[in-house]
Amino acid sequence: MTDAPAVAAPVDRTTQPWWRSAVFYQVYPRSFADSNGDGVGDLRGVRDKLGYLELLGVNALWVCPVMRSPMADGGYDVADPRDIDELFGGLTAMDDLIAEAHARQIKVTMDLVPNHTSDQHPWFREALAAAPGSRERDRYIFHDGRGPDGAEPPNNWPSIFGGPAWTRITEQDGTPGQWYLHLFAREQPDLNWDNPEVADDFEQTLRFWLDRGVDGFRLDVAHGMAKPDGLPDLPAVASGLFALDDDDVRFNNPAVHDIHRRIRKVVDEYPDAVTIGEVWVTDNTRFGEYVRADELHLAFNFRLAEAPFTAAAVRDAIDNSLAAVGPVFAVPTWTLSNHDIEREVTRYGGGAVGVARARAMILLELALPGAVFIYNGAELGLPNVDDLPDSVLQDPVWERSGHTERGRDGCRVPLPWEGAAPPFGFSTGSPWLPIPPEWAGLTVEAQLEELDSTLSLYRMAMELRAVRPEFDGDRIEWYGSPAGCLAFRRPGGLVCVLNASDTPTSLPPGDVLLASALPDGGQLPPNAAAWLV
Ligand code: GLC
Repeated sequence: MTDAPAVAAPVDRTTQPWWRSAVFYQVYPRSFADSNGDGVGDLRGVRDKLGYLELLGVNALWVCPVMRSPMADGGYDVADPRDIDELFGGLTAMDDLIAEAHARQIKVTMDLVPNHTSDQHPWFREALAAAPGSRERDRYIFHDGRGPDGAEPPNNWPSIFGGPAWTRITEQDGTPGQWYLHLFAREQPDLNWDNPEVADDFEQTLRFWLDRGVDGFRLDVAHGMAKPDGLPDLPAVASGLFALDDDDVRFNNPAVHDIHRRIRKVVDEYPDAVTIGEVWVTDNTRFGEYVRADELHLAFNFRLAEAPFTAAAVRDAIDNSLAAVGPVFAVPTWTLSNHDIEREVTRYGGGAVGVARARAMILLELALPGAVFIYNGAELGLPNVDDLPDSVLQDPVWERSGHTERGRDGCRVPLPWEGAAPPFGFSTGSPWLPIPPEWAGLTVEAQLEELDSTLSLYRMAMELRAVRPEFDGDRIEWYGSPAGCLAFRRPGGLVCVLNASDTPTSLPPGDVLLASALPDGGQLPPNAAAWLV
């Protein structure tokens, strides 16, 4: 390893917006903690665990959708964006959660879904009852079909979840009617953002929650709301589930930026509020456009979540994530998993190696400048559950793919809290997805007092990141490092080393602040990371 670069002046973090270096914890409410024994996690469950989240050291929550929903897509099918579903405890439970989280200095951000509604939203019911060409239909994307009887969909777009992106309706007189667009499940009709009523209503939703004290929003499918003129066919239907080509005409249309500007204007009236967009765009320039000064504050960059565990791939993901936001002076974001992606322990090979690599990667991630997103259960080192019985699968992907894709339930299995047998304190009832008995050693209770547990590693790492001046500065400098390893340094002086090779590697000079596996005689073992100062 080569010499350290020069140290820059420390940054005064108190003058920065709170989200700039925040650790966000993603709560998937159905799977977090169930307070009423119905087998589904809820907001009182989250509130009851705020002490745990405080201990863990998170700065903010991202709460996946809890608005009124028939749950055709786990809540991403919203029937009333300005109410909380009784399944999650209703509006009072949300108000209580916000108040109690704030009392513990934890911010609360909510997931909003601007691209589509539920088919049970009053607007969609009105659209079905109204005539083609009506004001009611114009809030969604209805078209006549192709072919002599209009029996073919208006274009060839597939839904992200499998099957066609169009469903034909029956008109009020019983005749086969128009088709409506749904980029996701058929229960999720796409809104028509060219209709000013749609933007006005979304503005009302933003204000409704901001006025209730919410600190910001994760915006679902934030690259999806604008559709291309004329809805042209896709030249080649190459994109898969959450693997989109940047040129896929269904997404990433230039008019989406006007929508973000409009959203930002509203959010800017609430000075500390933040917007985080789900933006599946790979090209750095196009990604950066979403986080220009008058658009989103933050956008998820999924490169690290997609990178295999090799030094070259991880370094490339970091370089590109930084390069995407640098030119527009935006803050980078880092994420290893979420409710749509295979858990990292499994992605990195599973078993002890998968856990070791996931532990290394959280140290790497927390050493980077910017905002970090942790998916609930990652701090316990949970693997994906890939052997759920077919009969319990709930992700719409399973049905829509004709049972060829199992979908995302494997990363959504409820969290194990305590005890020796399922449901491990998650619920007093029967959890909506079964929890594997093998998770007995992974419960919060089992890990909390164990110094070398994954939970303890997360806690120590987050505490150090919050208090140590060595984490200052929003740049990194790469060190030279042996093949299969990487090392970088923050201007404040922190050095992070990752050993993704299969032999131990020497550490650069300095004191080890924290390591994901104990260095042996000054050598960092394979599948490990260390922080040095
Ligand atoms: C986003 C969400 C995903 C959901 C989809 C449709 O990608 O993260 O869970 O299924 O949007 O709303």
